[in-house]
Amino acid sequence: MTVLVVGSGGREHALLRALARSPQEPALLCAPGNAGTETFAESIAVAADDIDGLVGLAVERGVDLVVVGPEVPLALGLADRLREAGVSAFGPDAAGAKIEGSKAYANALMDRIGVPTAASRAFTSDEADAARAYVEAHDLPVVLKADGLAAGKGVVIADTRESARQSLDEMLEGAFGDAGATIVVEAFMEGEEASVFAVTDGEAFVLLPAAQDHKRIGEGDTGPNTGGMGAYAPAPAVDADLMDRVANEIVAPVLASLAEEGADYRGVLYCGLMLTASGPKVVEFNCRFGDPEAQVVLPLIASDPLALLLAAATGTMEEAEVEIREGAAACVVLASAGYPGAYEKGKPISGLEAAGHVATVLHAGTQREGDTVVTAGGRVLGVVGEGATLQDALDAAYRGADAISFDGKTLRRDIGQKGLARAQA
Ligand code: GLY
Repeated sequence: MTVLVVGSGGREHALLRALARSPQEPALLCAPGNAGTETFAESIAVAADDIDGLVGLAVERGVDLVVVGPEVPLALGLADRLREAGVSAFGPDAAGAKIEGSKAYANALMDRIGVPTAASRAFTSDEADAARAYVEAHDLPVVLKADGLAAGKGVVIADTRESARQSLDEMLEGAFGDAGATIVVEAFMEGEEASVFAVTDGEAFVLLPAAQDHKRIGEGDTGPNTGGMGAYAPAPAVDADLMDRVANEIVAPVLASLAEEGADYRGVLYCGLMLTASGPKVVEFNCRFGDPEAQVVLPLIASDPLALLLAAATGTMEEAEVEIREGAAACVVLASAGYPGAYEKGKPISGLEAAGHVATVLHAGTQREGDTVVTAGGRVLGVVGEGATLQDALDAAYRGADAISFDGKTLRRDIGQKGLARAQA
C-alpha cells in the first residue's frame, strides 16, 4: 500500500506520523514535504497546488491513497482529478470544498437548512456603499470576512467603529485579492471556540475528539489572528451531549445538503464552533483537518488511522471502527518573530534532538541547509506532548518547546489553560 500525503506543514507531518504507525505498514510519500516529514516519507518536489503534477505523480508511482492536507488543492479540484484517474483520495471534490472556499456559500447553505450560526450578509465589491452602511449600523464587535481562501488571514473582529470602517475599506480596496471580491459581515458570537472533525464518506461519519485551537498570537487571546498557536484535545468544553448536538444539528444535515447538491464529500468536515449559551453554533467550516488541531487529535486514535482514512476515501465508513484512547495531547507552536506579519527566514534551529526525548517535534515551516535545519515559515514547529492528563501533555509539550532554540522563537505560554480550568472545575 502506497500513500501520498500532499502538503508541507505541521498537519501533514502529523498525518504521516499517524500513518506510519498503521499495521498495514504503508510506503509513504509526501509532496512537497519539509525537513521533518522526511523522517517518515520520501519527499517529492511537487507543489501542493500543482494539480497536474500531483495526479501524474500518483499514477506514475502507483499510489493507492492520496491524503490531501491543505484546502487549496481541494478547491482546485485535486480530488476530482485523482478519482477520474482511478486513484482514491481523502478529501472532498471541488464542489464539496466550496464549504470552505466560499463563506457566503457556507452561510447560505446553513441558513437554508437551519444550522445554527451567526446572522450574516454578503456584499460584492460592487455593493461597497451598501456594505459601508450595513457595517456602520451593525452592533459591535462586528466580524468581517473575505469570502474566499485567504490562508487564515481573511477574518477581522472589529471592536470599534473606526477599526470596522478601516478594515472594511482595506478589504474593499483588495487587501485579500480575489478572496475578498465578496465580503461577508457577521454578528459576533460570545463563547468558547472548539474544533470538531467529522471523518466521512459523504454519508456515514465519525466524530473525532474535540480540540481547542489558540488562534491569536498573544497570550490571553490578544493580538492578530494566526493559523493557530497551539491546541489540545480532548477539549473538556465539548461533552458527550454537545458532541451529539454537533452530530445531529450540524454534521448530518450539512452532509445531506452537500450530497443533494451533488458534492462528493470524502474526507474531513471541520466544524469550527462557538459554544454559546444557547448551544453550539458554526463559526466556519473547513474541508480538511485543522492545523494545529490535527497534531493533537490524530495521536488519540488508537485504531489504525490508515483504515479510517481509507474507509472515508472508498465509501465504506459504515463499516469503519474507530477506537479513541484515554489521555490527552497538547501542541505548542513555535513561530518566527513578527508572525503573523512579516518575519525573517533562514534562522538555524538547535535542540531538536533533546526536545524529541520528551515530546514529538512536528515541522511546519522548516528546511534543511546542509546538516542544519533552518526556519522557513511563520509557524516553524509544533511540539506535541502526550500524557494521561491534559496537564501531563502540556508539561511534556512545554519541556520540548523549551529545549529548542532559534533566533526570534515566539510561543504562547497559556496553551490549554481553559481546558485545565474546566478539568479542575
Ligand atoms: N487551526 C485553524 C485551521 O486549521 O483553520
